[in-house]
Amino acid sequence: MEGKPKHSFLFSLFTIFLSLSTASTHFQTQTLTLRSLPNPPTLSQPESESTEPDSDSSTTLSLDLHHIDALSFNKTPLHLFNLRLQRDAARVISFSSILSKATSQNKTKPTGSFTGSGFSSSVTSGLSQGSGEYFTRLGVGTPPKYIYMVLDTGSDVVWLQCKPCRRCYSQSDPIFDPARSTSFAGIPCGSPLCRRLDSPGCNQKKVCQYQVSYGDGSFTFGDFSNETLTFRRTGVARVAIGCGHDNEGLFVGAAGLLGLGRGGLSFPSQTGTRFNKKFSYCLVDRSSSTKPSSMVFGESAVSRTARFTPLIKNPKLDTFYYVELLGISVGGTPVRGISASLFRLDQTGNGGVIIDSGTSVTRLTRPAYVALRDAFRVGATRLKRAPEFSLFDSCYDLSGLTEVKVPTVVFHFRGADVSLPAANYLIPVDNSGSFCFAFAGTMSGLSIIGNIQQQGFRVVYDLASSRVGFSPRGC
Ligand SMILES: *[C@@H]1O[C@H](CO)[C@@H](O)[C@H](O)[C@H]1NC(C)=O
Ligand SMILES: *[C@@H]1O[C@H](CO)[C@@H](O)[C@H](O)[C@H]1NC(C)=O
Repeated sequence: MEGKPKHSFLFSLFTIFLSLSTASTHFQTQTLTLRSLPNPPTLSQPESESTEPDSDSSTTLSLDLHHIDALSFNKTPLHLFNLRLQRDAARVISFSSILSKATSQNKTKPTGSFTGSGFSSSVTSGLSQGSGEYFTRLGVGTPPKYIYMVLDTGSDVVWLQCKPCRRCYSQSDPIFDPARSTSFAGIPCGSPLCRRLDSPGCNQKKVCQYQVSYGDGSFTFGDFSNETLTFRRTGVARVAIGCGHDNEGLFVGAAGLLGLGRGGLSFPSQTGTRFNKKFSYCLVDRSSSTKPSSMVFGESAVSRTARFTPLIKNPKLDTFYYVELLGISVGGTPVRGISASLFRLDQTGNGGVIIDSGTSVTRLTRPAYVALRDAFRVGATRLKRAPEFSLFDSCYDLSGLTEVKVPTVVFHFRGADVSLPAANYLIPVDNSGSFCFAFAGTMSGLSIIGNIQQQGFRVVYDLASSRVGFSPRGC
């Protein structure tokens, strides 16, 4: 070692020189083509809806996804965008509340019937809430009745509104009547499926009762039952679903929800033997594409070009998809001030990073957000600043321009670097040229990778191998 000081001194000079020159000459940018807020989507004519599914053995399902904005009528792009941000805020709050409930109790399933906690009557109707941003059309029962269901990677239980209604909100299709379906079967109280529920109940007929509350006061309650679901022409028999007779809160428009979480009662978990616990989706950037967003279940969901990062488990809550985020780069350099420790999921179930399809704007725990934003601002000094907008504190006036250079942004997940297209982080917030850096800070320890940042990727959820993959240009 003693013979080398000179050498290592020269070496450090060289390293300093190298890093200075990288910083000044190799700052990485990419081109953002400027577009305006997307126009309200229209619901395409439903495809032919078969009345007789082949309940065959097909091991792949593919579906079109529609953005929830298609269920709001006569609203301007700006109004829709503001509503989306409101739903987003509601979803983040409801995740926090679900999480704080889960972490404050030891993971033991409550037995017996409902404790009554978690119910709130302070539900304000008329507002949207954040149950998810995309929905699809599927058939329920035999013969199938077609309805819209919201897809939700942030919850597990599949449910829909059912007759007779103690309380149902308004939906666009007739409410499902289990009495007219030959495949409907109530699940008995003692069955293993019933015991998997968080707070199972039992009625006088010894039929299992489910309830799901979403942390914002909204909930659904009713009979837990097996039923056949039909996707295009493919029937999936005996899916345990909640048949909700009391649905309060704000699931405006859609008839129910297809839970896609990681827990045992979600649709991908229940159909694991058939679709191999694999699904993927691709959410298009609606301001630049007219293609529909789509979803695939089964082996063909796994894109060959995907880069994978392992899923990790929250010891207190099965539902969310936790990934390990180790750092973020801006302009080709790791952001100082962002380290893996800011994103670590601890043994008490706090902290961590989840990936979610129903949250729009990525939330980063506050210190990480501040460091990222500052690095972006430094890299974007040539852009003219504009006032803050809603939750966005770094906005730019790009009016009159057709394209600009913006610093690159790369997520470093364990085992997978994911380089974001520029349109996934500098987004229009009005139709007069204001664009904002589309991340936000959160005071909660939980960071959430939202769907704006996922646009254009095929996001692969491979629960069989406990990993999530990202495949660029996957739509
Ligand atoms: C959870 O378990 C831990 C250790 O097993 C115990 O110290 C703690 O009091 C428990 N908390 C609750 C809310 O039961
Ligand atoms: C519901 O479906 C599950 C899974 O196929 C099955 O094990 C169970 O026996 C079914 N229960 C009823 C009541 O149909």
